[in-house]
Amino acid sequence: MTPAEKVQLIRGYAGRYPGLRVFIETGLWQGTGSWEGVRDLFETTIVVDLQESNVEAAEKKGVGFGLVGDSGRALPGLLRQIDQPAVFWLDAHLMEEYDAEGDACPLLAELDAIVHWKYGAGSLILIDDMRLMDGGRAGYPTREQIDQVVSGVGWPREETDDILALLP
Ligand SMILES: C[S@@+](CC[C@H](N)C(=O)[O-])C[C@H]1O[C@@H](n2cnc3c(N)ncnc32)[C@H](O)[C@@H]1O
Repeated sequence: MTPAEKVQLIRGYAGRYPGLRVFIETGLWQGTGSWEGVRDLFETTIVVDLQESNVEAAEKKGVGFGLVGDSGRALPGLLRQIDQPAVFWLDAHLMEEYDAEGDACPLLAELDAIVHWKYGAGSLILIDDMRLMDGGRAGYPTREQIDQVVSGVGWPREETDDILALLP
């Protein structure tokens, strides 16, 4: 899927759940992300990225709130400050050309934070790049590990191309 198609998919899900007013994206690309294409649908857009330059660029473009750090480690503290369910676009993982400290793919820790959050079950979670969760990449979870982390909540799920949706 192209970035524009991904934005359309997120917009479609957001339209199904208009009560969700907060959008949280983990992982940016040079300050860009899907948040730019969906910001008009939400009261607040929040981004989390390992690279300060990415977050600064997003802030310059008017993101609601930007947080620098490993998203798996940052989400528990961030979510404690949010008092309503959210739409999550989980897209953080190391890019080949970028070498940084932090988990190669913080997805399991991100999901664990959402599972243990008061508003997690009422949230919509969209996970990008499911093709990478094949057990063949160091630091990336497998589908079985993902299933295990989210099993306690029992979100209904849908999958479109490379994107897994866990529905409120
Ligand atoms: C696929 S890109 C994100 C693309 C962006 N969401 C978009 O739609 O254009 C993944 C980004 O995740 C960030 N990243 C990598 N590991 C991370 C981690 N542990 N925590 C937070 N961000 C991370 C990197 O800055 C990298 O550019």
